[in-house]
Amino acid sequence: MNKVFVLGVGPGSPDYLSPAIVEQAAKCDLLIGGKRNLELFNFPGQEKLEIKKNLNLLMAIIKDRLTDQKVGILVSGDTGIYSMLPLLAREFGRQTLVVYPGISAVQYMFARLGLTWHDARIFSLHGRELDDLAAIISASEKVALFTDPKNTPALVCRRLFEAGIKGKKVYIGENLSYPNEKITAGYPADLLDFNGSDLNLVVINGE
Ligand SMILES: C[S@@+](CC[C@H](N)C(=O)[O-])C[C@H]1O[C@@H](n2cnc3c(N)ncnc32)[C@H](O)[C@@H]1O
Repeated sequence: MNKVFVLGVGPGSPDYLSPAIVEQAAKCDLLIGGKRNLELFNFPGQEKLEIKKNLNLLMAIIKDRLTDQKVGILVSGDTGIYSMLPLLAREFGRQTLVVYPGISAVQYMFARLGLTWHDARIFSLHGRELDDLAAIISASEKVALFTDPKNTPALVCRRLFEAGIKGKKVYIGENLSYPNEKITAGYPADLLDFNGSDLNLVVINGE
């Protein structure tokens, strides 16, 4: 059985995609990934399959193709942070995976803010709830939150505001690395009605 190549494609712009990953992606017969990630590659004759809500089917297709094809799975940002890597390791075994890291949206955002992230706590609200969000933020100096269209920056700010956390600075990074990138800063009270791109990351910093 061939190896499965797991490629971290960075925050989205080709400028933040490593040459090593482009080289590996070019050698794949089949690339699997979200729409945004697949759009980064256009190699002639290469097959692409989009990840939607079809994960079981995709796992079966990968298993079938691995006998004679090279398959690449594209994940956004870095492979090691809230990615499909654990699922792929369960399905195929860690020894079958060849993993190439990418630049996480978290790394990118902290760099834009001129802040370190070794001292940040990182959580995901992407498809999951975090009931003790306000308590965590209250107890932490720096927090990064992956969001989704349901758990929006405005909802985060509302939960902070209602919990009486009014003095922490909130930064919302939208469409990071793309030409329409935008970073908005404010206190929870300023951002209760924030309405922006679905693709965003929230950083909360300070007292
Ligand atoms: C499933 S997580 C994947 C995280 C990824 N492994 C990483 O290292 O960045 C997807 C979330 O990452 C954030 N994200 C990814 N790319 C982004 C970008 N270009 N701009 C803003 N947020 C981004 C959003 O919060 C999105 O909902």
